[in-house]
This record gives sequence, structure tokens and C-alpha cells, in this order.
Amino acid sequence: ENEPTVSITVVGASGDLAKKKIFPALFALYYEDCLPQQFTIYGYARSKMSDADLRHMVSKTLTCRIDKRENCTEKMEQFLKRCFYHSGQYDSPENFAELDKKLKEHEGGRVSNRLFYLSIPPNIFIDSVRCASLSASSGNGWTRVIVEKPFGRDSESSAALTKALKQYLEEDQIFRIDHYLGKELVENLSVLRFSNLIFEPLWSRQYIRNVQLIFSEDFGTEGRGGYFDNYGIIRDIMQNHLLQILALFAMETPVSLDAEDIRNEKVKVLRSMRPLQLENMVVGQYKSHTKGGVTYPAYTDDKTVPDDSLTPTFAAAALFIDNARWDGVPFLMKAGKALHNKRAEIRVQFRHVPGNLYNRNFGTDLDCATNELVIRVQPDEAIYLKINNKVPGLGMRLDRSNLNLHYAARYSKEIPCAYERLLLDAVEGERRLFIRSDELDAAWALFTPLLKELEEKKIIPEYYPYGSRGPVGAHYLAAKYNVRWGDGV
Ligand code: BG6
Repeated sequence: ENEPTVSITVVGASGDLAKKKIFPALFALYYEDCLPQQFTIYGYARSKMSDADLRHMVSKTLTCRIDKRENCTEKMEQFLKRCFYHSGQYDSPENFAELDKKLKEHEGGRVSNRLFYLSIPPNIFIDSVRCASLSASSGNGWTRVIVEKPFGRDSESSAALTKALKQYLEEDQIFRIDHYLGKELVENLSVLRFSNLIFEPLWSRQYIRNVQLIFSEDFGTEGRGGYFDNYGIIRDIMQNHLLQILALFAMETPVSLDAEDIRNEKVKVLRSMRPLQLENMVVGQYKSHTKGGVTYPAYTDDKTVPDDSLTPTFAAAALFIDNARWDGVPFLMKAGKALHNKRAEIRVQFRHVPGNLYNRNFGTDLDCATNELVIRVQPDEAIYLKINNKVPGLGMRLDRSNLNLHYAARYSKEIPCAYERLLLDAVEGERRLFIRSDELDAAWALFTPLLKELEEKKIIPEYYPYGSRGPVGAHYLAAKYNVRWGDGV
């Protein structure tokens, strides 16, 4: 009974992210017995709703994804009983004070810890942080605030946001979320590198020809055009999700697994990178396409997007890390919406085997003879290594085979959603997977000059049909560095 209480307030509770990700993740944590005994969840939003309305709304997206144990319905009911709703404006100190009162009632004078998850549009962000900080825990407990991107649009606006946040919160209270860091295979990157003898010694310019970070979605900005048009794919995916993966991939060995040690290494590698340049960049935008009698819309068909928008929905870039380990190795990134498939993966292409005795077995296509390590972050999580192998038989013919770690075959349990890992870490105060402000600065420093140039010069994107493999320019960009995209595009 005297255990500390934890209240989790989801600000923006009726939004899509809250409904689809945050509440289901909280339920999964509850189901797995990962939440503290004394926890309460508050939904906070503008619409007038009762506790029962919130519970009804939340119940629709809860799933027992972990397994189909019989007590699932019971667990859901218990979970929903811990969920409450408070209606208020995002910038109203009075409304937050009312919330504070309700929280205090639940806390009943015990040590109280408070976590606020701000799942709200950027324009009301600061006001909301100010208000939330007014309802900070007043006892011995902690107060933490999870913030979602966009963290600004460029270096300046991001720095202004950081400054404003720090008026109300200490850095160690701010949990900047990048949900890609919570994905199972991204977390596994360090395990793969640092706990297997065979990878880390090869992890450098000496053995790696290029690294590819690929993100694709097979749907457009449907319904999100209003947000997206102000940001574009470079800010939406590259500057955060892909760059974070790159930093983890390329960083030096941290002193320990401690959050500060890991983030120190990530910052270092980001600072060793060259800011992006227009000549190493391709931007695209999807146009309408009719296939099988169905017409898929162009990006600009979205009512919330201006007809003359030049916002990229696709981008490919070559990045370079100017340090001893990675000098000269191209890191190619590619991200796009409305493409032919949905996928996120890391591809590591190794160099040719020097003096390879078997070269002639590959004819002129030497590319076929090199090893490639693929880390498929999603869907159908897998890690596989392409190796050369003798085709069984009396002749000497080689082909490529995969040493394959297919998660679905190897592990019977379903993989937790990224938000589960991250929410649990925030409750436990583990900062390893959250972005520190200096990391954010370094990330913006790499992209800001390019983003400005694209906008100032009004660079016309290369148009690609909805559902296609994206602009052909991405192919030429890779070819400039003697690279072929591993995903066959
Ligand atoms: C978000 C982007 O950060 O990530 C979206 O804003 C994108 O545009 C989403 O669709 C992709 O996340 P996931 O986990 O579905 O791959």
C-alpha cells in the first residue's frame, strides 16, 4: 500500500497515435506485469468525454497480441478500470491544475511519480509542457515528460524548442522519443556487433564497401498531408529514424551500456559526419497511378496539400563519416512513401574477397560474389548473411545462399511493439533509447543546410508513380558511388 504511485498522463488522448500505439502498448505492459503495482492512466484531451467514453474508445484498440490466454478479457477489464479521462485545453494552467487535483486524489499522499506523454501537434507543444510542469509531482517522486517529434524543422527551431523546454524541465526529465530505437532489431544491432566475434572486426572501411538504410511504405500520406507537407520525408524519416540507426550502426564501442556512454558515442559519430549536400541527394514526389482499374492519388491530390507543393515524399542520399573507421564508405539512405512495398532494413555490403580463387565462377558480375548482411527491421524480422556456396553436385558451380535468422521461425513469442519498450524504459528511468539534446543538435546540423537549399532553390522533385519503386534518380545516385541498392531497385 505504501508503494510509490505512478500516473501516466497521455496528453492528446483522442489522437491517432494514442489510440493505435500508446494505449495498446500500456495494456501490453500491464498484461506482462511490467507496470508498477500502483499505476493510473489518464487520458487528457480537449473533447468532452467521460471515463467510460475513454474506456470504450481505448478498448477498441487493445489486443492480446502476446498470446491468447484465457484471462485476456479479464485483464482488459482490470486495465480499463485504471484508465481515467480529463478534458482540458492543452495550454490551460487551470485545466492542468484540475488534473493535478485528480492525480493527488489517486496518489493519496504516497510518493508519487508522474509521466506525461505529449502526443500533440508541435504548435501547442511548449504551452503544454509549461502546463504539465505545473502539475509536476510535488512529493519525493519524479516527473518525466515524453515528447514526440517533430522536434523543430531545422537547427534554429529545434534549438529554440530545446531552450523553451529547459525553462520548465531538466534535461533528465525530457524523454525524446524516436520509436525506431525501440524496435527489436534496432536494439539488437549492438548485441549483434558487440557480442559476436565475427562481426565487429569486420565493421570498418577495410571490409565494408557500403551500408544502406532503406525505408519504404506502400501507402501515401493519406489523411496526414497537413502535417506532412510542412516536414517532408527527409524530416519525417531520414533526419531521425534512419540517422539514429546509422549512429548506432557506426558508433565506436561505448565504455559501457550506460545511457550516457552510448549517447556519447552516438553524438561523436554524428559530429564526424559531413553535412548532406544537394549533389548527393535525390528527392521525389508520388504522382497518381492507375493499376488494375484502381486509381491511386497523387500526393498533391490530398486536400490538405497545396497543388503546387514541392515537398518530397521520397528521398535518397549518400552520407559520409569522416573518421578513421569509415573514411570513404558511402552510407546510402533511401526513404519513401507510396512505393511498391513496406519495409525497413539495413544492408551491409562487404568488399570483394582479394584474389578470389572462385571469381571466374561469377563471370563478370563480381557484385554477386560479395557478402551482404541484411538486417530486416520490419516486416517479418530477420537477419541474414548472403554467402557463396557450392551448388551440390559433381561440377563446381557457386551460388548465393543465406545464413538465415528468421525471427518467426526461431522465436515463438510475438515481438513487442516499439512503444512498449520505450514506455517501459521511461517508467523505469532508462534513457538509453531516448535522444539527448546534443544528439538532436548534431542531427539537425547535418540536415539543415540541405533542407534550406532545397527550399530556397525550389528544387523540383522527381515524380514517381504511386506504388512504383521510386525515382530512377536513386539508382544513379548509388551508381555514382559504385553501389547497387541491395533491395533490387
Ligand atoms: C513516423 C512517421 O515517425 O513513422 C510516419 O511520422 C511513418 O510518416 C512512421 O509512417 C513509420 O513507423 P512504423 O513503425 O510504422 O514503421
